[in-house]
Amino acid sequence: MPWNTLDDVALAGKVVLVRVDINVPMDAGRVTDMTRIDKIKPTVEDIIAKGGRVVLLAHFDRPKGKVVPEMSLRHLVVPLEASLGREVVFGAECVGPVAEAAIAAAGAADVVLLENTRFQPGEEKNDPALAAAMAALGDVYVNDAFSAAHRAHASTEGLARVLPSAAGRLMAAELRALEAALGNPERPVVAVVGGAKVSTKIELLANLVTKVDHLVIGGGMANTFLVAEGVEVGRSLAEREMAEMAREIHRKAQKAGCSIHLPVDIVVAREFKAGAASQVIDVADCPPDAMILDAGPKTVAALEAVFAACKTLIWNGPLGAFEIEPFNAATNAAAQAAARLTREGRLISVAGGGDTVAALNAAGVAEDFTFISTAGGAFLEWMEGKDLPGVAALMH
Ligand code: 3PG
Ligand code: MG
Repeated sequence: MPWNTLDDVALAGKVVLVRVDINVPMDAGRVTDMTRIDKIKPTVEDIIAKGGRVVLLAHFDRPKGKVVPEMSLRHLVVPLEASLGREVVFGAECVGPVAEAAIAAAGAADVVLLENTRFQPGEEKNDPALAAAMAALGDVYVNDAFSAAHRAHASTEGLARVLPSAAGRLMAAELRALEAALGNPERPVVAVVGGAKVSTKIELLANLVTKVDHLVIGGGMANTFLVAEGVEVGRSLAEREMAEMAREIHRKAQKAGCSIHLPVDIVVAREFKAGAASQVIDVADCPPDAMILDAGPKTVAALEAVFAACKTLIWNGPLGAFEIEPFNAATNAAAQAAARLTREGRLISVAGGGDTVAALNAAGVAEDFTFISTAGGAFLEWMEGKDLPGVAALMH
């Protein structure tokens, strides 16, 4: 691999600065999803087992270079202690004497957590002076924050340039999974891309059609592609001004030998609310006063056949308005089909980005997928074919 792992750098007796992404959702002071916190445990444990001292660097939310008390990482000390089963010593600044004192006060088996890196004006500017001040605290840099790797910040990029560096266990697992899904996948490959808008995913679609054999388009995005083909979609969410762009993606796909799959039947309703009266109809028959809110069963059956013919699947975004019933049916059924093929050893399935994980959790299949990324924006940028600065800085 073109980057170091925890097995390639000397950690015994070293102070290891570990960039993690514990930007977790919180509600009224409580963490509502512990996933990102739980996922750093293998890295923390391995560093301590190898005799290193763990100092965590992380951001929380977007304080924009100022101290915003509600965005203090202090609120995560107790959840971290619960997840890691170790004492967490908090340093109320991420550089300078306060940080040094926290590191000095911690025992070898404790974990140090330093304050929100984004409280520093130099963090988002990737200021070399801030990277140098962070580097002065330790001996080795470990980046375990794949989900923040699309940011070229002092703690995600600059630090890797000034200290011996390595990818943490989670970072390495994310990179391996993504390589297996798009870098050098077993073919055929199918990508499922859903969500509301084509306009936010043009680069992603344009990149995918050159890399995958089948592209399934779902959600509101599919309506825009239908409009581009002259199909009437009534009052459905669609970006009519993106129709030419959709046709361009179609042409690009054709040239690259990628088949695009759109809904052949649809679930329509007159109102967008849970339990609204709905009908399954042919895609050509959408009434002018109806909205398309999900794909129909024939579409799902066709997708299952595509999945069964493929060896690798990469999934981003729901197929319908999955957050309200019954318009989660296609997403659930397709996700269950992917999960079953994965369990049978016939499919490598990788998913990530924004709503996707919530949709797969709701479908009860997250455990069955080969890999679910912790990343939102970073997963999308990676699907767009962009270099992630936090990953690039680890390469040698
Ligand atoms: C995320 O939550 O996606 C990451 O922590 C990155 O956060 P950001 O979008 O504020 O850079
Ligand atoms: Mg974000």
